[in-house]
Amino acid sequence: MKSLDQYASDYFKTNLGVLHSFYPGLRVEVLKRELEVYLFGVESHNGKRLKEFPFLQGHHQKAMYFFNSMDKGMPLPYITGKAFFYKNDFFVNPNVLIPRSETEILVEDAVGFLKKMRNEKESLDKDLKILEVGTGSGALILSLLSDLDFSVDALATDISDKALEIAKKNYFHCQYGIHARTKLSFLEADRLFFNEKEHLTFDLIVSNPPYIKREEDFGLVHKKVHEYEPHEALYLKDEEYLAWFDVFFDQVKKALNPGGVFIMEGHENHLGSLQTLFLTKNVQKVDLKKDYCDRIRFLIVKV
Ligand SMILES: C[S@@+](CC[C@H](N)C(=O)[O-])C[C@H]1O[C@@H](n2cnc3c(N)ncnc32)[C@H](O)[C@@H]1O
Repeated sequence: MKSLDQYASDYFKTNLGVLHSFYPGLRVEVLKRELEVYLFGVESHNGKRLKEFPFLQGHHQKAMYFFNSMDKGMPLPYITGKAFFYKNDFFVNPNVLIPRSETEILVEDAVGFLKKMRNEKESLDKDLKILEVGTGSGALILSLLSDLDFSVDALATDISDKALEIAKKNYFHCQYGIHARTKLSFLEADRLFFNEKEHLTFDLIVSNPPYIKREEDFGLVHKKVHEYEPHEALYLKDEEYLAWFDVFFDQVKKALNPGGVFIMEGHENHLGSLQTLFLTKNVQKVDLKKDYCDRIRFLIVKV
């Protein structure tokens, strides 16, 4: 009888063409590691467990779900329920965007700004205040908070209550890696409309908002991204795009403390016009930053 390991090797060979169209660059070792972690919760030395288990015993149904989902091109993190981001694994499901590696640049920059602000404000005993708009899985804010060796006061929002459920679950699992006096709360909200009543202010606002134009950019979106990832996390209507950001940027500017910073991920085709838009709002400076593939991906604003 075939072992799980043999089954996975044969599956990979037989379906190579389809697999590479859905999962560019996927290697058989990665497939086996994901399968093993999915079935047994941990990876064993040299994939020992997969070699020991006959395919038709014990984990058959779970293994079949794994392979059937791969046949359909479901993103691996949605199959296994976990995605690696920055320095940790995070729970994900189809209600949240799978965190992308380029967003790690935003985390690093945000950590850098916070450390600098903290050094400058050393004499003040108030915690720095941070806001994330559109937290999704929470991977961004939780990675940021995990990297700080001082406490801060943070708020993470999302328009989707289902996304916030996952963010809270992730917070529960990584809270011990976060400074014990750091506060983090979650709020269901559209951009910063909640602040019309609250008048909260922040030293740092971060966001990776939906930034794909539904019509104009559609051809650039991988069909499996469109099929599986939440549209609310991806798209804005073309005709509402600039107006959406205009409102958002006004709210951000109003909510930032003097000397505060806003860092946002965006689409390389549209960040130029968003930079121009923010420059009309009387701020100190608005910079664009590239990712490691030399594409303009971030907007950094100082008020
Ligand atoms: C591109 S995803 C980013 C998720 C996560 N921060 C990350 O970087 O992986 C955008 C997130 O913004 C949320 N969102 C969409 N429209 C929003 C709005 N008007 N106000 C607040 N959040 C919104 C979506 O639900 C989604 O979770």
